[in-house]
Amino acid sequence: MTNQPIRAVLIGTGGIARSHVAAVRAAEGQVALTAAMDIDAGRAHAFTETQGIARTYTDVDAMLAEEKPQLVMIATPPGTHAELAVRSMEAGAWVLCEKPLCASLAEMDRIEEAERRTGNYTSSVFQWRFGSGGQHLKRLIDQGTLGKPLVCNSLVTWYRTPEYYAVPWRGKWATELGGCSMGHGIHAMDFVLWLLGEWQEVRAMIGTLDRDIEVEDVSMASVRFANGAMANLTNAVLCPREVSYMRFDFQKATVELTHLYSYRNGDWRYSAPVGAAYGDEVARWAAIPEDVPSSHAAQLAAFLAAMQRGERPPVSGPDVRGTIEFLASLYKSGMEGKPVKRGEITPGDPFYHQMCGPCDQAWQKP
Ligand SMILES: NC(=O)c1ccc[n+]([C@@H]2O[C@H](COP(=O)([O-])OP(=O)(O)OC[C@H]3O[C@@H](n4cnc5c(N)ncnc54)[C@H](O)[C@@H]3O)[C@@H](O)[C@H]2O)c1
Repeated sequence: MTNQPIRAVLIGTGGIARSHVAAVRAAEGQVALTAAMDIDAGRAHAFTETQGIARTYTDVDAMLAEEKPQLVMIATPPGTHAELAVRSMEAGAWVLCEKPLCASLAEMDRIEEAERRTGNYTSSVFQWRFGSGGQHLKRLIDQGTLGKPLVCNSLVTWYRTPEYYAVPWRGKWATELGGCSMGHGIHAMDFVLWLLGEWQEVRAMIGTLDRDIEVEDVSMASVRFANGAMANLTNAVLCPREVSYMRFDFQKATVELTHLYSYRNGDWRYSAPVGAAYGDEVARWAAIPEDVPSSHAAQLAAFLAAMQRGERPPVSGPDVRGTIEFLASLYKSGMEGKPVKRGEITPGDPFYHQMCGPCDQAWQKP
């Protein structure tokens, strides 16, 4: 690779698109965002004008053909992601795609097949992995500093009004691909799975308690990991006082993270048991070397570093497939009322093809 800026384009100019532009700006000249595209022409033009982006498109193929981007950032509704990622890779670009990356394990297969065929890669946005606090905890876990991970509890207790679901793509299996698990708690669940390693089994309950939507507004999942750790993961969009809270109990310390959508170093707390002989070490473990927020900018920096080296970027292929399989398993367990083991969902299973499996809504009846 040369020192020329990487030519990038953006697909989708709605709410989250600004975070992608901010990430490009934070990359300080490494990326040149030459164009943006949206099927809503008014929105696309207003966006490129306010963000100072040179060219505007309403047709994705025209943009890919004319701009010949090396990087495509996808910020469209979930149901469009896999198709746009494959088309972008076929046009010669690497892809950074919003969560959820795809609808199913079958779509994950399609993305991985296109990666092999084109030699390009598609990464899923999971910015929580890239804050300095998360990177620091991952290093401590990998080094065994805190002892074995034992117990984890995660609360994604957020609040989404009925009006939030008035946007046509939200609240439906076909376009949002799932509810609070696939769209909101996915950040925390991916983060826990990344930190604690291979998961083995999930037992879940899901429900639609208080929003007029097809998909779930609450889910709760108990998970067992290959290293023996156990986790409880709660996701809901009905909770008036919102918080994202996680606690990880290791043999030697408890590590807590309290924030909402993005964390910084000050949001982490490390504690040892009262009177522990090694209590003085906790301050050292808690000292995070730098303060990088968990942002799109932090993930883009890691993505660009991989691109410069010509290596598979983080949160692509096998590094994200486990999260997609976990979600399929959570939904299967929640809808069928049975535990689901890793590897159990194979191409003959309806949950391989969509998160609602047979999509008969029978699970909603108490
Ligand atoms: N990483 C995060 O923290 C985070 C936060 C919010 C949203 N998201 C994700 O970002 C994605 C977009 O969410 P949003 O809130 O910005 O939605 P939005 O509805 O505000 O914007 C989506 C835009 O995509 C456009 N669009 C729809 N289909 C298109 C297509 N085929 N080609 C081009 N443009 C198309 C729409 O016209 C709209 O302007 C979703 O997948 C969502 O889950 C991620």
